[in-house]
Amino acid sequence: MMKGLILSGGKGTRLYPLTYTRAKQLIPVANKPVLFRVIEMIRDAGIEEIGIVVGQTAPEIEAAVGDGSKFGVRITYIPQDSPDGLAHAVKISQDFIGSDPFVMFLGDNVIQGGISTLIRDFTNHPEWQAQIVLKQVDNPQSFGVAKLRDDGTIEKLIEKPKEPPSDLALVGIYMFDHHVFEAVNSIGKSWRGELEITDAIQWLIDHGYTVSPHVHQGWWIDTGKPIDMLEANASVLDEITPSVAPDVVIINSEIDRRVTIEPGARIVNSTIHGPTIIGSGTVIEDSYIGPYTSIYYEVTIKGCEIDRSIILEKTTITDLDARLSSCLIGRSAQVSGKQTRPRTLTMNLGDHSSILIV
Ligand code: TTP
Repeated sequence: MMKGLILSGGKGTRLYPLTYTRAKQLIPVANKPVLFRVIEMIRDAGIEEIGIVVGQTAPEIEAAVGDGSKFGVRITYIPQDSPDGLAHAVKISQDFIGSDPFVMFLGDNVIQGGISTLIRDFTNHPEWQAQIVLKQVDNPQSFGVAKLRDDGTIEKLIEKPKEPPSDLALVGIYMFDHHVFEAVNSIGKSWRGELEITDAIQWLIDHGYTVSPHVHQGWWIDTGKPIDMLEANASVLDEITPSVAPDVVIINSEIDRRVTIEPGARIVNSTIHGPTIIGSGTVIEDSYIGPYTSIYYEVTIKGCEIDRSIILEKTTITDLDARLSSCLIGRSAQVSGKQTRPRTLTMNLGDHSSILIV
């Protein structure tokens, strides 16, 4: 029976300051945490037994996901004392996986089109010990890259190559059978002190096992950095079917067909252009919300223009002269302008915040 393994430990340093106070896998993309999207994708491929590797943020992740029943799956949490690498996460999951084949999914990755076909392919080829997903990218120097043989099988994986042998990067989705445990128990730590999954896969190749590549055609986004978060948000918003909850209050406003509005929201004297999603209990007044924007729940926006942004819950933004564009704003933040002179900027910013004023 195929199992799922989601990696949801790690530090999330590249998403500071948001990830000081929240697990990065729980940051919402189109108003749904990335981790929930991953769980649903694995479930939709027919897998009911899922392990989640958790680190420091375990309590928050367990509170959000629970035992999995709300997703129709069974969840087992696998604590990882420190983020010692993706192959280390596999190693500590051996008891949970047993001798079953499994799909491993990085808990901060978003991919177009689901993984049902991949799972079916792997299940139908018992002669494959592993299957990896590759994607053509513009900057292979920044990824693990695969060198393929003429017959399409994998010859070598190279981590962040200076001179990439191809533009095929490893996407954060892997399928393995039990042979991977031999690999993760045999390799040593890399120069950065982690047990690397690329080393484990290379070990399988070097020991004569078959690692089959699948080149993914749709988009794939690793939400490691704020800019990736916004890109993932835009890509997912493009795909969702819009709907407006019946109890939404709309007064004197222009809202186009590609806007989703969740229950209890209130839109007054405003224009909203989709694809955009407005969260439950959120209030928008005298404002313009432009395309590719996700406003989470219980947010208040008055007298502002916002586009291509993610605004998290319980934040208040009021009376700004300039449009907020490509912004990622955390929870319960306050951003406000004032109409009187002197025209000053007053801020109380968290560590590692960044602001661009033009
Ligand atoms: P990364 O993005 O490579 O690492 P990170 O979460 O520490 O982030 P940063 O570089 O910004 O500090 O991790 C990819 C995914 O795998 C992510 O969901 C966290 C998870 N992970 C683990 O569960 N255990 C680990 O040991 C590592 C390294 C990552």
